[in-house]
Amino acid sequence: MDITKDIIYIGVNDHDLDLFEGQYDVPNGMAYNSYVILDEKIAVFDTVDRRFGKEWLDKLAATLDGKTPDYLIVQHMEPDHSANIVAFMETYPNTTVVATDRAFVIMKQFFGKDYAERRIVVKEKDTLSLGKHTLTFLTAPMVHWPEVMVTYDACDRVLFSADGFGKFGALDVEEDWACEARRYYFGIVGKYGAQVQKLLGAASALDIAIICPLHGPVLKENLGYYLGLYNTWSSYGVESEGVVIAYTSVYGNTKKAVETLAEELKAAGCPKVTVNDLARCDMAEAVEDAFRYGTLVLATTTYNGDIFPFMREFLHELTERGYKNRRIGIIENGSWAPTAAKRIKALLEGSKDLTLVEPVVTLRSAMSEANGEELKALAQELCR
Ligand code: FEO
Repeated sequence: MDITKDIIYIGVNDHDLDLFEGQYDVPNGMAYNSYVILDEKIAVFDTVDRRFGKEWLDKLAATLDGKTPDYLIVQHMEPDHSANIVAFMETYPNTTVVATDRAFVIMKQFFGKDYAERRIVVKEKDTLSLGKHTLTFLTAPMVHWPEVMVTYDACDRVLFSADGFGKFGALDVEEDWACEARRYYFGIVGKYGAQVQKLLGAASALDIAIICPLHGPVLKENLGYYLGLYNTWSSYGVESEGVVIAYTSVYGNTKKAVETLAEELKAAGCPKVTVNDLARCDMAEAVEDAFRYGTLVLATTTYNGDIFPFMREFLHELTERGYKNRRIGIIENGSWAPTAAKRIKALLEGSKDLTLVEPVVTLRSAMSEANGEELKALAQELCR
């Protein structure tokens, strides 16, 4: 696949993966992208997952058509991209490896070698000329690991964006970009909004026509849409109007209150209501929704003087990613000593700019008539 006249795609699709990075469901598989620039000098961008080494090296050999690469650009050392560095260097031993100093430290940790005799250590804004194409390297620490850099090719106006602008899903499956890019972003990079904002600032000074990420499709059109979403996500802004309700329920009574609230929200004109059962849904989807919408309702049972485990995990997933700038509603349940609301407030204490929407609704075992009125009042406040 040609990206431009000189830039060729040599990535692979993975449909055998059970969990990406050991935790994320990938129902439509995963793509590990890799690129070659054919110029007076030849550069290869990143390798692919360990299990696809042969397929990738075969694609590379077909693209090189008897030539040999001059540079292996290593933008990210996570093994989904770096696992075939040694196999590559054994196949093309005269190649020079180009990466940040931190990347070479991690390379040595993974592989016991850092190619001290055949490497170029690059820093912020260092350049490398391939002929027509001059590459400029921009460090992007914590997007998604500390050694990460992205690369700009001024000749074809291409940003090689490492994990940035990536998504779940193999490239031979058609699906909406934003849904799986958002789940990927908040799952994997969500904690590092400030670092992504810094990278977006640097990118705004570049004339970019094409974004080549390490996962997901190459982005060639309507780049403002993708850059806009990344700006919203990394600044913890609200992307969509609506309310998301995240709940746990043991015997269905808390669930009934959630269903009642959802109906009241719709009746009150709420543009979108999304409900996630935290014990049964994909947790990464629930996290994505919490960051997507401006209002979150948390409904859970009191459990061992605390809150139900799936809710505790959910709140941990949010707070460790810097959850903020949202409105929160709470429904708690407890048969003898309801303390869930208190625990939720305590767990969210460190989160900035959260506004509690009253009333907090307390169920005693099951929904009472008074609870029905409270839920109606809560729905009206949430829709305000
Ligand atoms: Fe796709 Fe952070 O590796």
